[in-house]
Amino acid sequence: KKPAGAPDSSLARPVTKVGVVGAGLMASQLAVLFARRLEVPVVLTDLDRERLDKGVGHAHGEIDKLLAKGRLSPDKAARLTSLITGSLGKDAFADADFVIEAVFEEMSVKRKVFAEVEEHVSPECVLATNTSSLSVTEMASGLRRPERVVGFHFFNPVAVLPLLEIVRGERTDEATLATAFATGKALRKSCVLVKDAPAFVVNRVLLRLLAEIVQAVDEGTPIETAERAARPLGLPMPPFVLMGLVGPAIALHVNETLHAAFPDRFPLSENLEKLVASGKSGVYLPDFTLDPEAVEIFAGG
Ligand code: 3HC
Repeated sequence: KKPAGAPDSSLARPVTKVGVVGAGLMASQLAVLFARRLEVPVVLTDLDRERLDKGVGHAHGEIDKLLAKGRLSPDKAARLTSLITGSLGKDAFADADFVIEAVFEEMSVKRKVFAEVEEHVSPECVLATNTSSLSVTEMASGLRRPERVVGFHFFNPVAVLPLLEIVRGERTDEATLATAFATGKALRKSCVLVKDAPAFVVNRVLLRLLAEIVQAVDEGTPIETAERAARPLGLPMPPFVLMGLVGPAIALHVNETLHAAFPDRFPLSENLEKLVASGKSGVYLPDFTLDPEAVEIFAGG
């Protein structure tokens, strides 16, 4: 069934090569997904060789894990590994049809990235952003062809969660949108078209929930109690584990965007800010036990 508001699929352009800007964890996961489902070359870029090698290494490692689980044949694993490469060259995306950015969640950084990419890609190349909450329209403004920019927002873990929010900016044209939908479908995601509003739809709901639970802890409820109280809500993972999966810095960033847009509904959490400043990746340790140091931060320590 065609998703509500989806454009005419005949306008979609083929995607024969993908570029990924950034080589962090999210970018590596995206590279694997695109290579696996589209079976086209995927080139990652980043600021320096060290980050790039780490990102490509992580993507290749994910393919090895799929091979070990028997999800891929040895042939296919070898093919996918060879499809994912890294490049620091400015012309790395010259023949790409679809470039997705997954860099730091800062508007000025993303705008700079798109302006640079636009210098080196074909006029038809789609520029997609995996931003969690920033305005797609603002990100596109200032480009020569803002109509080629679209939001393409995945959920963690990217390989597993089926949803993809496709965000139409004010200037996004029908061919870009059609290409985004066709690509999302080829990635076997369940695509929804959402409006370019702060944090779109899912993060608005999710952060509302996380922010309220964090607030309860800010007000003095111990984390253990908040987690137990949240269990009957039937979430697939406890809220503070989810925050670890998303990354506290991303959770804070979405919260800040929402606070700026709707200050009454989204209070800021000092504890969340402290957690991010501490550099901790979550409140839970990998074996799902509470990290005493992180709990101390939330307890006002
Ligand atoms: N990375 C990659 N794969 C993972 C993973 C991870 N972190 N965690 C689990 N998986 C894989 C497993 O390997 C397994 O794959 P397999 O079938 O090939 O072996 C599959 O997921 C299912 O895992 P489990 O058997 O462990 O099943 P669970 O029932 O525990 O489900 C879960 C795991 C799918 C992660 C589930 O707990 C879940 O849905 N959690 C909620 C996640 C969520 O809400 N994400 C959205 C966050 S918001 C966001 O990302 C937006 C951003 O902008 C902030």
